[in-house]
Amino acid sequence: MNLKPETLEKIEAVIPRYPQKRSAVLPVLHLVHEDQGYISREATEWIAEKLGLEPINVWELITFYPMLRDKPVGKKLVRVCRTLSCALQGSYKICETFREVLECKLDEPTPDGEVMVEFAECLASCHTGPVVMVNDELYEHVDETKAKEIAGKVRNGTGGTPSDTV
Ligand code: FES
Repeated sequence: MNLKPETLEKIEAVIPRYPQKRSAVLPVLHLVHEDQGYISREATEWIAEKLGLEPINVWELITFYPMLRDKPVGKKLVRVCRTLSCALQGSYKICETFREVLECKLDEPTPDGEVMVEFAECLASCHTGPVVMVNDELYEHVDETKAKEIAGKVRNGTGGTPSDTV
């Protein structure tokens, strides 16, 4: 496992906060996810061994929580809400616009690993739809023009690091 030294430090610090080390599995998963961008099979086994669990115990958490990924998703993850309120306001078309401008398929990172576009379920801002998230940044009232503008910034990498805004 090739974790950053600061991630390893945080993991070593978080485990003793719990009466049983297995109880630290969620914080450890989040730390590894933050470090790697996803949880690989290798990471799953590493976490299990570290916390005295079976890999299946870790795997079932990864597959349960949608914020934990088991595959790379691209440095910029564009999530377009497709739940009713946003769908009625045109989010399917908005998603198509992102895919066209970013030249990518749905749910597949671009070959350079820079961007991925996916649908998301309700992003809890139904009254301001269509809603789009790019990494941690929420965009509201995204119409065709705004979608092209956001996608252009994502494509040009003007947002910098993965968690920066675009
Ligand atoms: S339906 Fe899109 S944010 Fe709730």
